[in-house]
Amino acid sequence: MPFKKHSRQYDLVVFGATGYTGSLIAEHITTNFPTDLKWAIAGRSYNKLLNVVERCKTLNTVRQPPEIEICSLNDEDVTTLAKKTFALITTVGSYAKYGEFAFKACAESGTHYFDCTGEAVWHASMIRKYEASAKASGACMFPQAAIESAPSDLMTFSMASLIRSELSAPVGDVVAGIHEVHGALSGGTIHTALGLFDVFHWKDIAQSHKPYALSPVPNSKEAPKPSFLSRLTGLYTIPKLGLMSTSLTAGTNTAVVQRTWGLFKQVPSLQKQFYGPNFTYREFVRAKSHLRGMAMHYALAVGTVLFMFCPPVRKLVLKYAYQPGEGTSKDNQAKEYIQFRGVATPDIQPSIGKQAWCKAEFSGGLYYLTGVLVSQAACTILQDDLDLPGGIYTPACLGQGYIDRLNKAGFTIETKLIDA
Ligand SMILES: NC(=O)c1ccc[n+]([C@@H]2O[C@H](COP(=O)([O-])OP(=O)(O)OC[C@H]3O[C@@H](n4cnc5c(N)ncnc54)[C@H](OP(=O)(O)O)[C@@H]3O)[C@@H](O)[C@H]2O)c1
Repeated sequence: MPFKKHSRQYDLVVFGATGYTGSLIAEHITTNFPTDLKWAIAGRSYNKLLNVVERCKTLNTVRQPPEIEICSLNDEDVTTLAKKTFALITTVGSYAKYGEFAFKACAESGTHYFDCTGEAVWHASMIRKYEASAKASGACMFPQAAIESAPSDLMTFSMASLIRSELSAPVGDVVAGIHEVHGALSGGTIHTALGLFDVFHWKDIAQSHKPYALSPVPNSKEAPKPSFLSRLTGLYTIPKLGLMSTSLTAGTNTAVVQRTWGLFKQVPSLQKQFYGPNFTYREFVRAKSHLRGMAMHYALAVGTVLFMFCPPVRKLVLKYAYQPGEGTSKDNQAKEYIQFRGVATPDIQPSIGKQAWCKAEFSGGLYYLTGVLVSQAACTILQDDLDLPGGIYTPACLGQGYIDRLNKAGFTIETKLIDA
């Protein structure tokens, strides 16, 4: 499929390509994108960018390596960069500390934008500050398009699409989560997660995880209430998914899925995909035993309080964790794996005894998967006619064309109808 025609110098710029995630994005583009892509890598250090270019040359000797763009973190430089390209991916993080320059520049310059933040509180503040600019400039902006939130959003979209096409029904309750994972966090992620408490007040973080906090339209429909025992133990038994426990990323992922619900309700070109008035979403993580599930629940509760209110504990962890720029070695990345599962109940009364079931999985580096998710999202905007006006969107708004690209790139999303 050809890239869209436009008047800018580049189709795509990867800003932050010298980092752990950014260099994997450059790797995926080099080895998977059509060779007529006009692209550049950007960052503050010429020598580090040159190293990335040299690696791209060894990965694919046929294609032209990316151009180099030096860009410091200030409004003038980042705006100049944003104006040179049709689409921009940024991995300059933490986003709470450094992300606003690229977000603002793209929103105001009509540049399509992709990032891999998991910081829902920052995402919420970007919506408040720049949604009007993006709507006015025509920029389609996709924050939270990485491994943390895109799979939840895309699995929900896939199950809802199946229920609509096979059962002609809207969706009721959806439950999803990680079923199995082998992998480790990068230094950039650890510093970002713990640094969030230096930038935002805990009340703002809690506010961004409230139901429908990121949705453009409110929804008063509440997810099924947990039993007293589930609240006490953190354990849930979900039919077809098994024993589950509290998930570290449920809050930020739910915010994105619920924003999709609101965008599908609000944006005319997306309304045919609206999930329905009785949609609810819950996310957990598989517990391998009752004991381990309870341990995960309490470790998360205690860890959150310690990290939030005890800066010395944050400092200590940061001292011994990977540093920014570091992460799992190439050899270990090859052994990584992640599998998500979900179930969705059609909103049909009385019940017809059917559910949609979904499995999404990827074998290989988890940060490489982030590279696949953000760069294939950018490819979708570069190639597909999406009929999206300017605005701030979620991964599911990229639709089936995006999911098809991900399937081809190794992140497979499989859905089927099962007996409830
Ligand atoms: N939510 C998810 O699923 C997910 C997945 C992957 C990554 N992430 C997020 O993505 C971000 C990047 O992660 P990472 O592991 O790739 O981090 P990293 O290796 O530390 O890379 C950070 C990048 O940002 C640049 N940068 C940092 N501070 C800068 C500054 N003051 N001025 C200019 N450039 C600056 C770095 O440039 P230099 O090389 O010049 O230092 C580097 O290119 C983090 O916020 C992480 O949490 C999220």
